[in-house]
Amino acid sequence: MNLTTIIQESLIRDLELAPHGLLKIEWVKKHMPIMNELHQEFTKEQPLAGKRLLLCLHLEAKTAYFAQTLHAGGAEVTVVASNPLSTQDDVVAALVASGVRAYAWYGSTSEECFANIRRALDHHPEIIIDDGGDVVALLHTERPEQIPEVIGGCEETTTGLVRLRAMERKGELKFPMIAVNDAYMKYLFDNRYGTGQSVWDGIMRTTNLVVAGKTVVVVGYGWCGKGVSMRAKGLGARIIITEIDPIKANEALMDGFEVMPLSQAAAQGDFFITVTGNVRVIRREHLEVIKDGAILANAGHFDVEISKPDLTELAISSRTVRNNIEEFVFADGRRIYLLAEGRLVNLAAGDGHPAEVMDTSFSLQALSARYLAEKAPDLTPRVISVPLDIDQRVARLRLQAQGITIDTLTPEQEKYLASWE
Ligand code: NAD
Ligand code: ADE
Repeated sequence: MNLTTIIQESLIRDLELAPHGLLKIEWVKKHMPIMNELHQEFTKEQPLAGKRLLLCLHLEAKTAYFAQTLHAGGAEVTVVASNPLSTQDDVVAALVASGVRAYAWYGSTSEECFANIRRALDHHPEIIIDDGGDVVALLHTERPEQIPEVIGGCEETTTGLVRLRAMERKGELKFPMIAVNDAYMKYLFDNRYGTGQSVWDGIMRTTNLVVAGKTVVVVGYGWCGKGVSMRAKGLGARIIITEIDPIKANEALMDGFEVMPLSQAAAQGDFFITVTGNVRVIRREHLEVIKDGAILANAGHFDVEISKPDLTELAISSRTVRNNIEEFVFADGRRIYLLAEGRLVNLAAGDGHPAEVMDTSFSLQALSARYLAEKAPDLTPRVISVPLDIDQRVARLRLQAQGITIDTLTPEQEKYLASWE
């Protein structure tokens, strides 16, 4: 597909922003050594030659480099936004200038995001790279006639997999989806250390407030919650965990955190961070007792964890007090601050995970896309795991990039581990 056509077909904010976006991509490339290797490999081997790919992701610099790698591997790539506030217009412009079709701009409404997915579907994708499950859901509900064209896809995040597994249980999933989120080199690093760092980066650059000595309530102690809490501890905060899973609650206790119901934590927190993947976890009953000045942020995939309808109903007025901070004033005079409209704070008010972390996540994605292109006829329409050899290759490359070597089993140890006597 020639560049002029890609530019004409794309719907973005402004192509003139491309030079600035290009600089951002150049910066992350320096810190994505695994993707650099895959970029070379894909350019040489053309594993995706002629394949049409649709990526619905957070459109920032690391994602752009990933899309460019797929493009270099021979694919016709179209990108759309998986969140209206995580798109960086300059990066998208640079992406289009490099031959990737895009339908995305910062601040689009949810309706515009879905309209953009439909536009992208008009190009008849064969492989879907989804983050949150919206493309797969739309294909199954609105475009069933296109399903036979799709050989499969990859899902980036926990919430997307929750949705895919619900489809699978009902026998409604019609093509194989690789659970990239569930690869070891994904959730142990991206969800934990990536979210741990980038959520605090987003909160701190947005609020410019101190964390030390404050009470941080982390709602949900899954992989993301663990990372967010771990880094809050490093910042000197007092941490309260709220959970619904007794096992995770025990884990939080043994990690040295206070555990209590949210109804009790609500009156104590200075910062609240939701990372549950669930709906309405902070709602009216909590807002009614929350402290004056409390800051609410969400890091879960959808903006449904903090009830915005309840906030709006309880407030007598609201205003934007700083970029990405909305103040809600309650009748009793309390002021509550919501960051980034309750959308995932690290991406809507930041740049997402660090480059080195997305290097591993997107390398898993690239190798999984290649696996789909090569193995699709052998795969069943289910949620499938990332093959262990892909996970281990990414792990090895990550160590190599850091100049770390590790031991190998001696023949005696191998024999010992294979025996039972
Ligand atoms: P997870 O399944 O490991 O953890 C979620 C935790 O929330 C579980 O322990 C669960 O018991 C708990 N939970 C559910 N409902 C709750 C409630 N009402 N109150 C308290 N706890 C509750 O999932 P994860 O991998 O940590 O992901 C969490 C969310 O973050 C998902 O939406 C995921 O898609 C998203 N995510 C965001 C980023 C990011 O960059 N912001 C990165 C990865 C994942
Ligand atoms: N950057 C691009 N995609 C991302 C994701 N899913 N999580 C965090 N940072 C990202």
